[in-house]
Amino acid sequence: MQINTFEEYQKAYDKSVKEPEAFWSDIAEKFSWQKKWDNVLEWNFKEPDVKWFINGKLNITENCIDRHLPEKAGTVAFYFEENEIGKPSREITYQQLHDEVCKLANVLKSFGVQKGDRVCIYLPMVPEAVFSLLACARIGAVHSVVFGGFSAQSLQDRINDSSCKVVLTSDGAFRGNKTIPMKPTVDEALKQCSSIEKVLVLNRTGEKVNMQQGRDFEWKEQVSKQSPQCTATTMDSEDPLFILYTSGSTGKPKGVVHSTGGYMVFTCYSFLNVFQYKPEQVYWCTADVGWVTGHSYITYGPLLAGATSVIFEGIPSYPDAGRFWNVVDKYKVNIFYTAPTAIRALEAAGLDYVKPYDLSSLKVLGSVGEPINEEAWQWYYKNIGKEKCPVVDTWWQTETGGILISPLASITKTKPGFATLPLPGVQPVLVDEKGNIIEGNGVEGNLCIQFPWPSILRTTYGDHERCRATYFATYPGLYFTGDGCRRDEDGYYRITGRVDDVINVSGHRIGTAEVESAINQCEDVVESAVVGFPHDIKGQGIYAYCIVPNSLKSHDEIKKEILNCVNKVIGPIARPDKIQIVSGLPKTRSGKIMRRILRKVAEGEINNLGDISTLLDPQVVEEIVKGKI
Ligand code: PRX
Repeated sequence: MQINTFEEYQKAYDKSVKEPEAFWSDIAEKFSWQKKWDNVLEWNFKEPDVKWFINGKLNITENCIDRHLPEKAGTVAFYFEENEIGKPSREITYQQLHDEVCKLANVLKSFGVQKGDRVCIYLPMVPEAVFSLLACARIGAVHSVVFGGFSAQSLQDRINDSSCKVVLTSDGAFRGNKTIPMKPTVDEALKQCSSIEKVLVLNRTGEKVNMQQGRDFEWKEQVSKQSPQCTATTMDSEDPLFILYTSGSTGKPKGVVHSTGGYMVFTCYSFLNVFQYKPEQVYWCTADVGWVTGHSYITYGPLLAGATSVIFEGIPSYPDAGRFWNVVDKYKVNIFYTAPTAIRALEAAGLDYVKPYDLSSLKVLGSVGEPINEEAWQWYYKNIGKEKCPVVDTWWQTETGGILISPLASITKTKPGFATLPLPGVQPVLVDEKGNIIEGNGVEGNLCIQFPWPSILRTTYGDHERCRATYFATYPGLYFTGDGCRRDEDGYYRITGRVDDVINVSGHRIGTAEVESAINQCEDVVESAVVGFPHDIKGQGIYAYCIVPNSLKSHDEIKKEILNCVNKVIGPIARPDKIQIVSGLPKTRSGKIMRRILRKVAEGEINNLGDISTLLDPQVVEEIVKGKI
């Protein structure tokens, strides 16, 4: 399955385009199937309808765990590094992983969870989070992980959208020097979630929490009662594996649905090839299981490859900015995968935090989630990789399930800021505004993919039309990513950022419409407009223009209210970095907000606002420019 040279990459790529079915079936053969597929692929991007490994039967956890047991029962699957530094690491071998997953799966069964039921997971970054995903998959339940930083309201919306039956949660989370309550947030959310029957509560922080009799159960007590054997439920290749909510330009977050067979094949293949993982190496991805990176490259990809990984509960800055390097040194990490926002923050902290640690175990450095600026790339390459480790800038999305464009470590020549070349099986195209494909090199356009890869999203939960309209209708016949992209003279791809109304804050996707709707729930605000602006550490920050007429409150008070409102409706990750109180917004005569102008003002480009003659009231712009903070 692993490519070893650039020539092999070219050969594999060629074959994947000319004979995609033969290419992917050769790879799929390497997994354990309860029944082989009849056909490899049926697809159209019109409805869309994509099916891989049709009628194949399998269980992904047999491939993640059971398949490795004859050789790896005693091999460490996960080292757990707690939030608090200096704690002994908890080691989980493949055998222990098997037993923990089976026991938890049996708890779910005892709660009445059946194949196809949805289970919400709202947990901190502890091994039980990974066990939870796998326990669901073991019995064919569909997991829907909600990032622990989301508010009760967001949690409630997500639980209700996919009518989850059970919540797996914790009393709270340790995060740096803070203890963050989680169970109270779940209690608040569940006030209006009629589908939830049972809640399993992990004792992590030890805070006293409310336990509702008949609904809430103590994790350890339940798990300890169960057998460490649980027959894996037979799943069809196309049965859903999970739902993960993600933000877009409009409306509420969508539940992206991934299916089982194709996702398994692609996450394993991409993990092995991008990172060039070799047996006995230690791999560490710093993401949270609440995001897709935690699904594909903490849980499924590495386990499918039989890897040994680190799970980290904490944050890069606790107890100080040397924590990542301390962990690399402690576990002799060989492959390290993080986000540009963390790299920039650690760069800003200075080299004194890097120097005390031995980083010589490192072989590969990865980046994900947002464009990596050249300065951060160079800092990472020089000071962390000591100019010996390739930096793999991996481009992908929640919807793509796995990495689509990236160097293969030590195989593809890297170039700072470039995700470089597509993985075998991935056919990117650039299109102009009208949807014409732009051929040749040295060009720029909107990034689309013209052929299905095995882990492409299958639908958006409960609303297939939304999936079609969002991803397959802008440019008929193509999957539209929402990203702008340049293909340089060497045919290398550089992602330039979102071309829609999505902001990428510290690698987290936030829809401007979502933030606006949260702000508009604030009593004093009548209307708002939100745009992104360049931010030194976060990549992009959130800039909110808010109309607040006739209020007796001070601007400071109102701004505080706005922040509280966003905290309550979405969560702290969507809090605006800057709020400007205005008396009007620049609108066209047809009432459309001209975001282009607001973006320019937020970026500080006030002398280059472009044509404002079509505005209903050009004076508004003058006032906004004057009031810019
Ligand atoms: O804009 C791209 C950016 O993150 C978006 C996907 O966000 P999400 O679904 O949350 O998944 C993040 C983790 C895969 C993309 O549309 N993005 C992701 N990786 C990169 C990137 N932008 C530039 N370079 C990357 N390597």
